[in-house]
Amino acid sequence: MPAVKIAPSILSADFARLGEEVRAVDAAGADYIHIDVMDGHFVPNITIGPAVVKALRPHSAKPFDVHLMIAPVDPYIADFAKAGADIITVHPEAGAHLHRTIQLIKAQGKKAGVSLNPATPLSAIEWVLHELDLVLVMTVNPGFGGQSFIDSQLPKIRELRRRIDTLGKPIDLEIDGGINTDTAPLAIAAGADVLVAGTATFTGGAERYAANMQGLRG
Ligand code: DX5
Ligand code: ZN
Repeated sequence: MPAVKIAPSILSADFARLGEEVRAVDAAGADYIHIDVMDGHFVPNITIGPAVVKALRPHSAKPFDVHLMIAPVDPYIADFAKAGADIITVHPEAGAHLHRTIQLIKAQGKKAGVSLNPATPLSAIEWVLHELDLVLVMTVNPGFGGQSFIDSQLPKIRELRRRIDTLGKPIDLEIDGGINTDTAPLAIAAGADVLVAGTATFTGGAERYAANMQGLRG
Protein backbone atom coordinates (compact mmCIF):
# COMPACT_ATOMS: atom_id res chain seq x y z
CA MET A 1 0.00 0.00 0.00
CA PRO A 2 1.45 3.45 -0.89
CA ALA A 3 2.39 5.81 1.96
CA VAL A 4 -0.34 8.10 3.17
CA LYS A 5 -0.36 11.56 1.59
CA ILE A 6 -0.08 14.70 3.71
CA ALA A 7 -2.03 17.84 2.86
CA PRO A 8 -0.92 20.70 5.11
CA SER A 9 -3.76 23.14 5.77
CA ILE A 10 -2.45 26.65 5.27
CA LEU A 11 -5.11 27.87 7.70
CA SER A 12 -2.43 27.34 10.36
CA ALA A 13 0.32 29.09 8.38
CA ASP A 14 1.50 32.66 8.94
CA PHE A 15 -0.96 34.62 6.79
CA ALA A 16 1.45 37.53 6.52
CA ARG A 17 3.93 35.24 4.73
CA LEU A 18 1.62 32.83 2.91
CA GLY A 19 3.67 32.45 -0.29
CA GLU A 20 6.78 31.67 1.71
CA GLU A 21 4.85 29.19 3.88
CA VAL A 22 3.48 27.37 0.82
CA ARG A 23 7.01 27.12 -0.62
CA ALA A 24 8.25 25.80 2.72
CA VAL A 25 5.69 22.98 2.99
CA ASP A 26 6.16 22.15 -0.68
CA ALA A 27 9.92 21.78 -0.14
CA ALA A 28 9.26 19.83 3.07
CA GLY A 29 7.36 17.11 1.18
CA ALA A 30 3.71 18.13 1.17
CA ASP A 31 1.66 16.02 -1.26
CA TYR A 32 -1.21 18.48 -1.62
CA ILE A 33 -1.65 22.08 -0.44
CA HIS A 34 -4.95 22.19 1.49
CA ILE A 35 -6.68 25.55 1.26
CA ASP A 36 -9.63 26.20 3.58
CA VAL A 37 -12.14 28.67 2.19
CA MET A 38 -14.73 29.92 4.71
CA ASP A 39 -17.50 32.48 4.28
CA GLY A 40 -18.71 33.34 7.79
CA HIS A 41 -22.11 31.93 6.83
CA PHE A 42 -21.75 28.21 6.12
CA VAL A 43 -19.13 28.11 8.90
CA PRO A 44 -18.46 30.66 11.65
CA ASN A 45 -15.16 31.97 10.29
CA ILE A 46 -13.94 33.93 7.26
CA THR A 47 -10.69 33.07 5.52
CA ILE A 48 -9.62 33.53 1.93
CA GLY A 49 -11.03 33.84 -1.57
CA PRO A 50 -10.01 33.14 -5.18
CA ALA A 51 -7.63 36.14 -5.31
CA VAL A 52 -5.43 34.57 -2.64
CA VAL A 53 -5.52 31.16 -4.34
CA LYS A 54 -4.40 32.85 -7.55
CA ALA A 55 -1.62 34.72 -5.76
CA LEU A 56 -0.35 31.47 -4.21
CA ARG A 57 -0.43 29.47 -7.43
CA PRO A 58 3.11 30.42 -8.61
CA HIS A 59 4.55 29.32 -5.25
CA SER A 60 3.94 25.57 -5.69
CA ALA A 61 3.34 23.02 -8.42
CA LYS A 62 1.73 20.60 -5.94
CA PRO A 63 -2.03 20.00 -6.32
CA PHE A 64 -4.10 22.74 -4.69
CA ASP A 65 -6.74 20.92 -2.64
CA VAL A 66 -9.37 23.61 -2.16
CA HIS A 67 -11.93 22.91 0.56
CA LEU A 68 -14.93 25.16 0.06
CA MET A 69 -16.93 25.82 3.23
CA ILE A 70 -19.20 28.34 1.56
CA ALA A 71 -22.89 28.43 0.64
CA PRO A 72 -24.18 28.78 -1.96
CA VAL A 73 -21.13 27.20 -3.56
CA ASP A 74 -22.10 26.85 -7.25
CA PRO A 75 -21.54 30.54 -8.17
CA TYR A 76 -17.89 30.33 -7.05
CA ILE A 77 -16.76 27.04 -8.61
CA ALA A 78 -15.48 28.65 -11.83
CA ASP A 79 -13.66 31.39 -9.90
CA PHE A 80 -11.70 28.88 -7.82
CA ALA A 81 -11.01 26.72 -10.86
CA LYS A 82 -9.60 29.71 -12.76
CA ALA A 83 -7.60 30.78 -9.71
CA GLY A 84 -5.68 27.49 -9.85
CA ALA A 85 -7.51 24.88 -7.78
CA ASP A 86 -6.80 21.28 -8.83
CA ILE A 87 -9.23 19.53 -6.50
CA ILE A 88 -12.42 21.32 -5.48
CA THR A 89 -14.28 19.92 -2.49
CA VAL A 90 -17.78 20.97 -1.47
CA HIS A 91 -20.22 20.09 1.29
CA PRO A 92 -23.58 18.49 0.35
CA GLU A 93 -25.34 21.12 2.50
CA ALA A 94 -23.87 23.96 0.40
CA GLY A 95 -26.42 23.65 -2.38
CA ALA A 96 -29.67 21.95 -3.30
CA HIS A 97 -28.25 19.79 -6.10
CA LEU A 98 -25.01 18.02 -5.23
CA HIS A 99 -24.87 16.08 -8.48
CA ARG A 100 -25.07 19.32 -10.46
CA THR A 101 -22.33 20.90 -8.32
CA ILE A 102 -20.05 17.91 -9.01
CA GLN A 103 -20.71 18.27 -12.74
CA LEU A 104 -19.87 21.99 -12.53
CA ILE A 105 -16.48 21.13 -11.00
CA LYS A 106 -15.80 18.51 -13.66
CA ALA A 107 -16.86 20.87 -16.45
CA GLN A 108 -14.01 23.11 -15.30
CA GLY A 109 -11.63 20.20 -15.81
CA LYS A 110 -11.00 19.84 -12.06
CA LYS A 111 -11.13 16.92 -9.66
CA ALA A 112 -14.29 16.78 -7.58
CA GLY A 113 -14.50 16.13 -3.85
CA VAL A 114 -17.33 16.01 -1.33
CA SER A 115 -16.83 16.67 2.38
CA LEU A 116 -18.91 15.08 5.12
CA ASN A 117 -19.40 16.92 8.41
CA PRO A 118 -19.35 14.79 11.57
CA ALA A 119 -23.17 14.60 11.60
CA THR A 120 -23.52 14.01 7.85
CA PRO A 121 -24.12 10.36 6.96
CA LEU A 122 -22.37 8.44 4.19
CA SER A 123 -25.76 8.08 2.52
CA ALA A 124 -25.39 11.74 1.41
CA ILE A 125 -22.93 10.56 -1.26
CA GLU A 126 -24.29 7.08 -1.92
CA TRP A 127 -25.46 7.86 -5.47
CA VAL A 128 -22.57 10.12 -6.47
CA LEU A 129 -19.56 8.28 -5.02
CA HIS A 130 -18.65 6.84 -8.43
CA GLU A 131 -18.41 10.41 -9.80
CA LEU A 132 -15.90 11.57 -7.18
CA ASP A 133 -12.13 11.88 -7.07
CA LEU A 134 -12.01 12.51 -3.32
CA VAL A 135 -14.15 12.18 -0.21
CA LEU A 136 -13.17 14.37 2.74
CA VAL A 137 -14.33 13.12 6.14
CA MET A 138 -14.39 15.91 8.72
CA THR A 139 -13.16 14.79 12.13
CA VAL A 140 -13.97 18.22 13.59
CA ASN A 141 -16.85 20.57 12.91
CA PRO A 142 -15.55 22.82 10.15
CA GLY A 143 -14.59 26.40 10.88
CA PHE A 144 -11.35 26.42 12.81
CA GLY A 145 -7.97 24.77 13.06
CA GLY A 146 -6.69 23.35 16.32
CA GLN A 147 -9.81 21.43 17.40
CA SER A 148 -9.90 17.91 18.85
CA PHE A 149 -10.35 14.81 16.66
CA ILE A 150 -13.87 13.36 16.94
CA ASP A 151 -13.21 9.64 17.10
CA SER A 152 -16.85 8.65 16.53
CA GLN A 153 -16.01 9.23 12.85
CA LEU A 154 -13.70 6.20 12.69
CA PRO A 155 -16.47 3.68 11.84
CA LYS A 156 -17.63 6.06 9.09
CA ILE A 157 -14.10 6.12 7.65
CA ARG A 158 -13.91 2.30 7.80
CA GLU A 159 -17.25 1.90 6.03
CA LEU A 160 -16.26 4.48 3.39
CA ARG A 161 -12.99 2.60 2.79
CA ARG A 162 -15.03 -0.55 2.21
CA ARG A 163 -17.34 1.20 -0.27
CA ILE A 164 -14.45 2.78 -2.20
CA ASP A 165 -12.64 -0.56 -2.40
CA THR A 166 -15.84 -2.26 -3.59
CA LEU A 167 -16.19 0.37 -6.30
CA GLY A 168 -12.58 -0.16 -7.31
CA LYS A 169 -11.99 3.46 -8.33
CA PRO A 170 -8.99 5.59 -7.29
CA ILE A 171 -10.92 7.88 -4.94
CA ASP A 172 -8.88 9.66 -2.25
CA LEU A 173 -10.18 9.15 1.29
CA GLU A 174 -9.04 12.29 3.05
CA ILE A 175 -9.43 13.09 6.76
CA ASP A 176 -9.56 16.66 8.06
CA GLY A 177 -9.41 17.93 11.62
CA GLY A 178 -7.42 17.20 14.74
CA ILE A 179 -4.79 15.09 12.99
CA ASN A 180 -1.64 14.69 15.10
CA THR A 181 0.79 11.89 15.93
CA ASP A 182 -1.83 10.27 18.21
CA THR A 183 -4.77 10.42 15.82
CA ALA A 184 -3.02 9.91 12.45
CA PRO A 185 -2.48 6.16 13.12
CA LEU A 186 -6.20 5.79 13.94
CA ALA A 187 -7.22 7.47 10.71
CA ILE A 188 -4.73 5.43 8.67
CA ALA A 189 -5.83 2.16 10.28
CA ALA A 190 -9.44 3.04 9.45
CA GLY A 191 -8.51 3.45 5.79
CA ALA A 192 -7.48 7.07 5.21
CA ASP A 193 -5.02 7.70 2.42
CA VAL A 194 -4.73 11.51 2.69
CA LEU A 195 -4.37 13.39 5.98
CA VAL A 196 -5.00 17.13 6.28
CA ALA A 197 -2.79 18.61 8.98
CA GLY A 198 -2.81 22.28 9.92
CA THR A 199 -1.62 22.71 13.49
CA ALA A 200 0.49 19.55 13.37
CA THR A 201 2.41 20.77 10.30
CA PHE A 202 2.85 24.48 11.01
CA THR A 203 4.49 24.20 14.38
CA GLY A 204 8.05 24.80 15.49
CA GLY A 205 9.15 26.89 12.49
CA ALA A 206 9.81 25.98 8.86
CA GLU A 207 12.80 23.79 9.72
CA ARG A 208 10.37 21.44 11.52
CA TYR A 209 7.80 21.10 8.71
CA ALA A 210 9.38 18.05 7.05
CA ALA A 211 9.71 16.15 10.34
CA ASN A 212 6.22 17.22 11.42
CA MET A 213 4.68 15.80 8.25
CA GLN A 214 6.87 12.70 8.23
CA GLY A 215 5.75 11.95 11.80
CA LEU A 216 2.15 11.64 10.56
CA ARG A 217 2.78 9.24 7.71
CA GLY A 218 2.97 6.17 9.92
C1 DX5 B 1 -11.40 23.05 9.54
C2 DX5 B 1 -10.53 22.92 8.32
C3 DX5 B 1 -9.29 22.16 8.56
C4 DX5 B 1 -8.37 22.72 9.60
C5 DX5 B 1 -7.56 21.61 10.17
O1 DX5 B 1 -12.60 23.61 9.18
O2 DX5 B 1 -11.23 22.28 7.28
O3 DX5 B 1 -8.60 21.93 7.33
O4 DX5 B 1 -7.52 23.72 9.10
O5 DX5 B 1 -6.80 22.12 11.20
P1 DX5 B 1 -6.08 21.18 12.27
O6 DX5 B 1 -5.20 20.25 11.52
O7 DX5 B 1 -5.34 22.17 13.10
O8 DX5 B 1 -7.17 20.47 13.03
ZN1 ZN C 1 -10.13 21.70 5.40
